[in-house]
Amino acid sequence: MEKTMVGKTLFVSGGTRGIGKAIAYAFAAKGCDIAFTYASSSDTANEIIADIENRYSVKCRAYKLDILEPLTYKDVYKEFDKDFDRLDYFISNAIISGRAVVGGFAPFMRLKPKGLTNIYTATVSAFVVGAQEAAKRMEKTGGGSIISMSSTGNLVYTPNYSGHGTNKAAIETMIKYAATELGEKNIRVNAVSGGPIDTDALKAFPNYEEVKAEVVKRSPLSRMGDATDLTGACIFLCEENSSWLTGQTIVIDGGTSFQ
Ligand SMILES: NC(=O)c1ccc[n+]([C@@H]2O[C@H](COP(=O)([O-])OP(=O)(O)OC[C@H]3O[C@@H](n4cnc5c(N)ncnc54)[C@H](OP(=O)(O)O)[C@@H]3O)[C@@H](O)[C@H]2O)c1
Repeated sequence: MEKTMVGKTLFVSGGTRGIGKAIAYAFAAKGCDIAFTYASSSDTANEIIADIENRYSVKCRAYKLDILEPLTYKDVYKEFDKDFDRLDYFISNAIISGRAVVGGFAPFMRLKPKGLTNIYTATVSAFVVGAQEAAKRMEKTGGGSIISMSSTGNLVYTPNYSGHGTNKAAIETMIKYAATELGEKNIRVNAVSGGPIDTDALKAFPNYEEVKAEVVKRSPLSRMGDATDLTGACIFLCEENSSWLTGQTIVIDGGTSFQ
């Protein structure tokens, strides 16, 4: 792979698993230095750091972050500043699951304000604070690219997903506002929206096997998405080939949304 990102730095939230981990590896393979966040296990984060540095000869560091406390992003960035002297790309990827989404991940009649609010905090508010801090740093080096991960759960009915789906719709609108206001600083802001991807987040669905079978049936490509399927769009949105692309959502869904 051509190392077109040497000297650049990516900050990705939720780099320990699934899509965020795949993004960290894909950017490192392009020669990019990597900062990522973790929520639960510093051991896992340290293993990833060692593996990335060993494989790709880039700098890699990890920071603990709780997206249910978005303002703590500011402290994380202070730590980031001690390790890195520039920021080129920020990807808001981390997502909450388990207890934090009780009342948010449910059929409509069982939705509760607390669960819904948690998902808003972790999806929209965390993106806003993370992207604000990123933009302050990108401005100093003449610009950058900001991405939020989204999902087609705001386009296609997905059981129990209304809390996440509505917040992904919100994030797809938020990136347009951010793109409009940050364009003068040469900062582009976009979203990458995935169809169902085989990660821990999806395995936590009570009807995981059913969802998987349905996706394979609906996709003209006859398979579910893999964590690496969204990395190409993220790299494209950070490279010069997309320098006039901002305020958009790129949908990568294996063709499932039209079925
Ligand atoms: N899976 C799909 O079908 C799919 C489809 C389209 C889009 N997406 C989007 O892609 C993104 C990643 O999804 P995924 O499936 O890769 O998720 P995942 O496998 O569940 O990984 C979630 C990541 O978020 C971190 N995290 C969890 N709780 C957190 C908290 N409170 N504060 C900070 N970080 C926290 C986890 O860290 P620890 O490992 O330390 O817990 C982990 O790195 C999400 O935005 C999701 O909506 C997913």
